[in-house]
Amino acid sequence: MTAPLIIETVSDLRAQIWAWRGAGESIGFVPTMGALHKGHFSLLAKADKHASKTVVSIYVNPAQFSASEDLSAYPCRETQDVEALAAAGCDLVYIPKPGEIYAPNHATHITMAGPALGLESDHRPDFLGGVALVVAKLLNQVAPDMAVFGEKDYQQLACVRALVRDLDMPVRILSAPIVRQKDGLALSSRNAYFGVDDRKIAGALNRQMLLCAAQISQGQEIEAASRSAGENLLKAGFSKIDYISAVDPRTLEVLTNKLAARPARLLLAAHLAGVRLIDNCKI
Ligand code: PAJ
Repeated sequence: MTAPLIIETVSDLRAQIWAWRGAGESIGFVPTMGALHKGHFSLLAKADKHASKTVVSIYVNPAQFSASEDLSAYPCRETQDVEALAAAGCDLVYIPKPGEIYAPNHATHITMAGPALGLESDHRPDFLGGVALVVAKLLNQVAPDMAVFGEKDYQQLACVRALVRDLDMPVRILSAPIVRQKDGLALSSRNAYFGVDDRKIAGALNRQMLLCAAQISQGQEIEAASRSAGENLLKAGFSKIDYISAVDPRTLEVLTNKLAARPARLLLAAHLAGVRLIDNCKI
């Protein structure tokens, strides 16, 4: 097990990336906010398959949190993260100091339409613009050949693809499937907030999602199937449903009525015990 390089500044990062490029290496990149779990490591494994050197960034991006979301409460486990990345064979961990990302005179913001409209944006208006900005910056700083994003954050993935396409960024975006726990709950750094009882209830999100997707694919009206999944989640103990929507898997345009054999993805977001959970699956 070789310890990964730990780099904190853009200039050190660029020097290392250029040295690797000069030696004919290819670079695979996984951006994260830390508190790493098996979902993150599945992205690293994919990057490792497609590139000779792997870079993981750990940066909790203030621009994607709104004033009402508690940025300071986001779990931080840097020492364990770096140890686990070493064990997983990561070559470089980029942990930028805050000033490396947003200088005091930072003036550029990104507003996205297309796949950024609706869904998450209806409930977290600052989120996807903040993600687009930090991802654009990280991709410019790391300058990888390819970067891997999880299907767990499906709208984020669609926005990153649109961002890279629209801004002609020379990087290939790969996606990786959702890693789940035994009861279907998608792994998330936020699952750590649950007590034992709420953790048991959380599994209902996946069960209702799969049931709803099956009903829609068998011809049930999308609205009726989504409404019943929402009611079941509230009965199970969830406090609020933000959305349960069937969408076009590429444009994320919300579909209504019956599916009529077109491809679709079911996306949902709901609150349980003060934790906001998201999930999605193919219909
Ligand atoms: P974070 O939540 O740390 O997630 C980093 C990456 O891991 C994302 O691409 C996310 O989709 C993926 N991921 C999270 N849970 C997963 C799971 N259970 N299975 C598979 N992949 C999973 O997403 C972010 O950070 C940030 O928005 C970021 C892109 C780093 C920009 O700040």
